[in-house]
Amino acid sequence: MTTIIENAKIRRIILVEHEGLRIGLRSIETLLDRVATGDVDATKNAHQQFQNLLTSFIRHIEHEERILRPVLERIDAWGPARVRSMDEEHSVQRATVKRLASLEALGDPAEWAKEVRAFSSELLTDMAGEEKTCLSPAVLRDDVVAVEGDSE
Ligand SMILES: [Fe+2]
Ligand SMILES: [Fe+2]
Repeated sequence: MTTIIENAKIRRIILVEHEGLRIGLRSIETLLDRVATGDVDATKNAHQQFQNLLTSFIRHIEHEERILRPVLERIDAWGPARVRSMDEEHSVQRATVKRLASLEALGDPAEWAKEVRAFSSELLTDMAGEEKTCLSPAVLRDDVVAVEGDSE
């Protein structure tokens, strides 16, 4: 199926997902001090939230590849480079998510909290970078494009 979807709409969809991820990260971060001191309830809660966040993040990556990647590819002379860097980034992120998803939080909660904080700060940097480069209105101008598959 081919869907006609405006760049502005693509930008909005991705930005809303970023905002959801930020909210999720903040909510987990409020628990991490208690996790680090061995609070079992906080650790179970944070672990559950983190697993959900990782699932949402993988969906977000897939979403970017489906709706943003084809647009970036032909948007300007830097398109191929933008797509290459997205692909590289996403492949590293998928590997990281796979590793983090398999971690037991209760085994060494302090270490787990450290891993979550590191992931969180990387993801915040990554999203800010995307918003400055490929998601800015200057790059993702408001033309109309065709995207293969479901748009949402
Ligand atoms: Fe991305
Ligand atoms: Fe993103």
